[in-house]
Amino acid sequence: MYQFDIAAGSKADLYRDLLSALDGLTAGEPDPIANMANAAALLWEYLPNLNWAGFYRNVNGELVLGPFQGKAACIRIPFGAGVCGTAAATRASQLVEDVNAFPGHIACDAASASELVVPILVEGELMGVLDLDSPDRGRFDAEDQAGCERLMALLGPRLR
Ligand code: SME
Repeated sequence: MYQFDIAAGSKADLYRDLLSALDGLTAGEPDPIANMANAAALLWEYLPNLNWAGFYRNVNGELVLGPFQGKAACIRIPFGAGVCGTAAATRASQLVEDVNAFPGHIACDAASASELVVPILVEGELMGVLDLDSPDRGRFDAEDQAGCERLMALLGPRLR
């Protein structure tokens, strides 16, 4: 059983503790699916107000559903399509305050109102993306983006 000490205070404290928990969970484990699965479970448990948390993997230039928590979701997303495909095509995080205002947003769950997608890059190679959805509009801010980018910088090399 894993026991995490995750601060409930500021976002800075939360992401610092999540980074150390993710490090502990994935250090020394070479299986990418196991590492994505535990990362999704960790974020789902400790990030408040989410309705989906998980991964799409880059499989030969197409995003394919990976480990996640939440409702069953779209399986394949072409690069350039939706929020996830845009993050993959541009290799830039997508912070979307209102998904209904994002052209081409793919609604896997009608409850989703805001979304944060972070590309996972390792030495120039796109491994996939982290996708977080929330039923609250404007749930994610720049601190969430920076925190998740740090988490994915740690996880990326452990997905090879
Ligand atoms: N909304 C995403 C699709 C993935 S689901 O939210 C899990 C998108 O527009 O890419």
